[in-house]
Amino acid sequence: MNQTYEALDVAFNGAKKWLSGLEDRSVSATATLESLREKIHGELPDRGMDSTAVVERLIDVSKGGLHGSASGRFFAWVIGGATPSALAADWLTSTWDQNAALYACGPAVSVIEETAGEWIKDLLHLPEECSFAFTTGCQLAHFTCLASARAAVLKAKRWNINEDGLVGSPAIRVLTSEHRHGSVDRAVRYLGLGNKSLRAIPTDSEGRIEISNFEAVLSESDQPTIVVLNAADLNIGAFDAFDELIPIAKQHGAWVHIDGAFGLFARVSEKLRHHTKGIELADSWATDGHKWLNVPFDCGIAIIRDRQAHREAMTISASYIAAESQARDQIDWNPEWSRRARGVPVYAALQELGREGVAAMIERCVQHCHEIVLGIGKLPNTKILWEPQLNQGLIRFFDASPNATETDHNRRTDEVIAEINKEGTAFFSSTTWRGLRAMRVSVVNWRTSANDVHRTVESVRKVLR
Ligand SMILES: Cc1ncc(COP(=O)(O)O)c(C=O)c1O
Repeated sequence: MNQTYEALDVAFNGAKKWLSGLEDRSVSATATLESLREKIHGELPDRGMDSTAVVERLIDVSKGGLHGSASGRFFAWVIGGATPSALAADWLTSTWDQNAALYACGPAVSVIEETAGEWIKDLLHLPEECSFAFTTGCQLAHFTCLASARAAVLKAKRWNINEDGLVGSPAIRVLTSEHRHGSVDRAVRYLGLGNKSLRAIPTDSEGRIEISNFEAVLSESDQPTIVVLNAADLNIGAFDAFDELIPIAKQHGAWVHIDGAFGLFARVSEKLRHHTKGIELADSWATDGHKWLNVPFDCGIAIIRDRQAHREAMTISASYIAAESQARDQIDWNPEWSRRARGVPVYAALQELGREGVAAMIERCVQHCHEIVLGIGKLPNTKILWEPQLNQGLIRFFDASPNATETDHNRRTDEVIAEINKEGTAFFSSTTWRGLRAMRVSVVNWRTSANDVHRTVESVRKVLR
């Protein structure tokens, strides 16, 4: 045991050093691919080495190659941090090393996950009767939800997917937004439906699916249909008009699934809940713990109204029609077999923050996103392409030379983002929105403070100067 304690001590001290350096270190990784490979590659050793030396070496070879995504000034992609208890709970989850597939393999973690799932539904104001699963991320949450959807829409056409497979089945169509996340396409591919089953519906100036278009497309055929709507798209945080679209989809017998990777958490705040009006009418919802709930990677959450369809799609039980067992076996709800109890950090974060704390964190992020976008937008040769409604905003940088074209502004935008990241105070990612390059500002970290906002805007000012 001493060896284990010593290795854990080295990891603990390394973690403390890493966390305490977040304020001053570059938020962006600084090492090059070549330098990382030089340090990390090497021959597979014939003989092992001391466990503490392994951990020390791991810390050493990673130096300069880690982004400060746990910092309050990391605004790239949509990447949350980890609350103190969620991080600690994650360490315990590894230490306990339970196989959270079956209650029998990990009784306490099964009950913790069952509680965390109930709390999440409560927090998000979703129907109590829904089933859920803690997956690796929103990608697999989509897969889990859409596998259930596939089974249900085929069952309505008297086709049993579990017994008969897809060959010869009625063709399913998937109607979705032109601004969907790529994980929807991948889930559709994983499920054997093929890219051609996807139909992208145009959106209005607010990034919401056009209702008249939606209705027209739905009426084109009585094929089994799955509709995927956005609860905050990646670029501008656009919410589809759930209260109008879902009843129309239901009239046509469609299953409605929501991509709420981060936007579903708007439901936690009374001030922001209006964005999600009618979302509770859907059949399934996919979201993430590792984004706005601030639990460590990885954690996605699938929530499904038709628990029988969910269980039939996922369970290993040959008699999958049988009644649910008394204790919760995650294997009945998850695509994985052996698995980590990733609901444990969720349970911890929800206890640490409480309903009010989650709401406060969400509202703080939204406010800070506004402040950053408006602050940068006031600097010379910048334009706010999208003022945040939620926690996502877009900024473009202009080439000030006379006769500069959109191509020049695109290049300038990419150059400025690279310079900001190199400067190291803050880190942003880029995107193409309506054909224009832009810097995306995404605020989802519990740590982001007014001081981080100030430091970020000042660093951009310095770079532009
Ligand atoms: C809107 C949206 N949907 C789905 C995903 C995929 O989530 P994950 O990476 O957790 O699988 C993302 C990730 O950024 C996202 O922003």
